Amino acid sequence: MKTYLVTGGAGFIGSNFVLYMLNKYNDVKIVNLDALTYAGNLENLKEVENNPNHVFVQGDICDQELVTKLFDDYKFDYVVNFAAESHVDRSIREPEVFAKTNVMGTVNLLNCAKNAWYTEENGWLDGVKYLQVSTDEVYGSLGDTGYFMETTPLDPHSPYSASKAGADFMVKAYGDTFKMPINITRCSNNYGPYQFPEKLIPLLINNCLQHKDLPIYGDGLNVRDWLYVEDHCKAIDMVVRQGVLGEVYNVGGHNERTNLQIVKKVISYIGENVDKEVTENLMKFVEDRKGHDRRYGIAPDKIKADLGWYPETTFEVGIEKTIKWYLDNKEWMNNVTSGDYQKYYSKMYK
Ligand code: NAD
Ligand code: TYD
Repeated sequence: MKTYLVTGGAGFIGSNFVLYMLNKYNDVKIVNLDALTYAGNLENLKEVENNPNHVFVQGDICDQELVTKLFDDYKFDYVVNFAAESHVDRSIREPEVFAKTNVMGTVNLLNCAKNAWYTEENGWLDGVKYLQVSTDEVYGSLGDTGYFMETTPLDPHSPYSASKAGADFMVKAYGDTFKMPINITRCSNNYGPYQFPEKLIPLLINNCLQHKDLPIYGDGLNVRDWLYVEDHCKAIDMVVRQGVLGEVYNVGGHNERTNLQIVKKVISYIGENVDKEVTENLMKFVEDRKGHDRRYGIAPDKIKADLGWYPETTFEVGIEKTIKWYLDNKEWMNNVTSGDYQKYYSKMYK
């Protein structure tokens, strides 16, 4: 039995990872530490609420006492840190919480892991590993050609990506200074079930269904490289088990699209449920995001060559599955878009 501390496991990617792992393995125990911010949702974990291999703990990754106690109680083999403030637009409005959770939270996890896993006499426990889930946004923005490689210098632009880069440097420092067994994964934009509708794809789906404007920042020609969340979960599982210690792995979907292409794709798939002409009229070009990165693109050559991972889900299949999931789970959407969401939304797009 391998025991994982998964942080942020009630959020979008974290909950998909918890479900993926517990469906795949019987010999995995997951302690899921999540603060349940606006982005965390226990509904995502309904499927495993009675699974004895899943323990949910509500708490903050910055809480040293709590994280130390969890290490004492559960003797983790692995830490997978998903917990973060994750939305660029929010980081422009409230950078402080990004610095606190994303940088200081990561440092606290590293420290607690080191205290539990390392002694001067015996060095590091065998087989343990800390995996930091990072983002390709730490590399900055690409021009029309080329891809982010693991060797691309970090050049973050938003408070979000700067805080993720800060965390990556701390993880690297623990690897370099203390020889801590670490990996860092940097993935492109994920999409799939359980994504909070502040990110582009679920926001478009929700707004189409509600006949609300579909806000397109700037000229709509910024490019993102879309990765189906299950493919990402598979990559993380592989890196935890087989990743070479100390290495960074980029995880990308080979799926570059302009935002305008995404909007049109969502409209065309959702067209059967909502009148296409109506949704097309909802498209609305709005003021550009400050410091908006133009293009992200990953060549996932290293993870493919070293671990045999590749993105299995084409965009056509992934987007259809995703939209179907949201249509089948309207109650989930209704629940997450009630209350504070309305306040947030009206502030964002007035
Ligand atoms: P999310 O916002 O959906 O979920 C984040 C989760 O972390 C939530 O459940 C939240 O409650 C929890 N959390 C926040 N602050 C916390 C704290 N202080 N202590 C404990 N838990 C806390 O994010 P996501 O999209 O699932 O992203 C997960 C990770 O993947 C993040 O580290 C993010 O930077 C990274 N990432 C995401 C994407 C993407 O497309 N979504 C792309 C690249 C990298
Ligand atoms: P987002 O989902 O916020 O992810 P990220 O900023 O981390 O890449 O945004 C994806 C792209 O879509 C990005 O170029 C910004 C753009 N966008 C819009 O045009 N309209 C929107 O309402 C949102 C949320 C994003």
